[in-house]
Amino acid sequence: MKTIDRTRVAGLMERERATFRQRHTHSGVLAEQARRSLLFGVPMNWMTRWPGDHPVYVDRAEGAHFWDVDGNEFVDFCLGDTGGMAGHAPKAAVNAVARQAARGITLMLPTEDAAWVGDEMARRFGVPYWQFTLSATDANRCVIRWAREITGRPKIVVHNWCYHGSVDETIAILDGGCTVARKGNIGMPVPLDQTTRVVEINDLAGLEAALAAGDVAACLFEPALTNIGIVLPEPGYHESVRALCTKYDVLLVIDETHTISAGPGGCTMAWGLDPDFVTIGKTLGSGIASGAYGMTERVRTRVLEHTDAKNADVGGIGGTLAGNALSLAAMRATLGQVMTDAAFQQMIALGERFEEGVRGVIESRELPWHVVRLGCRVEYLFRPDRARTGAEAAAGQDEKLDPYIHLYLLNRGILMTPFHNMALMSPATTAADVDRHMQVFADMADELIGA
Ligand SMILES: Cc1ncc(COP(=O)(O)O)c(C=O)c1O
Repeated sequence: MKTIDRTRVAGLMERERATFRQRHTHSGVLAEQARRSLLFGVPMNWMTRWPGDHPVYVDRAEGAHFWDVDGNEFVDFCLGDTGGMAGHAPKAAVNAVARQAARGITLMLPTEDAAWVGDEMARRFGVPYWQFTLSATDANRCVIRWAREITGRPKIVVHNWCYHGSVDETIAILDGGCTVARKGNIGMPVPLDQTTRVVEINDLAGLEAALAAGDVAACLFEPALTNIGIVLPEPGYHESVRALCTKYDVLLVIDETHTISAGPGGCTMAWGLDPDFVTIGKTLGSGIASGAYGMTERVRTRVLEHTDAKNADVGGIGGTLAGNALSLAAMRATLGQVMTDAAFQQMIALGERFEEGVRGVIESRELPWHVVRLGCRVEYLFRPDRARTGAEAAAGQDEKLDPYIHLYLLNRGILMTPFHNMALMSPATTAADVDRHMQVFADMADELIGA
């Protein structure tokens, strides 16, 4: 296997930075202006993490492509890191949103779209009762509250190196067997070991030890980790997780926000999972703020037993704009006409094409990397074999290679998900888009190894 020459990476990175400056002069001017009034110079702090001197400023986006203010065109495999997974500005959703916006955006009252979306979510994920939020973060927050309420227990179990949004209980990590705050955790309300136990994915003995104390309300798990590279569950893992949750009367929450890449009903449908709650956000409304959580009949009964209807507006669950008319119109159009069962077949086939192409480049160049796929989501990681745990995946991140590859691809019209090398296929993505990535990825690899 080839060894990557680190001094070579540093030199190539300097060249790419210079190319970025040349190609993005207007973005540079806008970034400078933004520093006047925006904290960190960007609308959201994590936008500072894009490689290059500043983020690229977008002019417009359509389908799987976007154009920046300097006139550069990009194939978008980041897709708003799943918020744009339906493709940018899909006609059906844009029309539905325009129609609803002209008829009223938010009223504190339902529209007829609400029950349609509830029925469709029940069909896809197999749990019958749904509520709507404006983000996946909020869906997770709501479910954690319900889980505590109906079990009377305080703690939440999450996977090591998970990400479930800005949910206090989940911004934790395993350190020498102890649960501690994740690096960068801003202003945590209490030490994380008071609210949370962290276990590795695929570590059933660790999970049982975490549940056995009898103080856990819920396990909040992605079916596969997707935020530290993709870490897939081993055969039988989910069956055992379900059995342990049942044994210790712990509620199993499956967060499908990213793993919906596995199919129209996420891994829950694709793998036949049996959760108590399902949470999801991001893609549901083609990017219009939307999120949802669903629950089984059994959980609903417990929820109803613990419902204080008179104080439902101040119970810590909700949000004035949650379930608004615009959000539900966007969800109905997206689920009904854009992210359809047929669209998923095509997206997953493109994911396979992407995976095979990347694997071909890695193997032919003898790079010490690997590629992993979950439906229409694909990721390359800088270790030769698949990670089995979050900690292994984290060790496969590379702080030099990762930004270099991002910037190399960006400079040649390809946008990957930031912070790791992930690509997502939308209903609008084409084989030509995938092949374009492959060509640029192969050129990058050749230059890296000096071929
Ligand atoms: C699995 C998962 N759940 C929840 C979230 C939170 O989504 P949002 O930031 O849109 O609330 C994310 C964000 O990346 C995620 O990856």
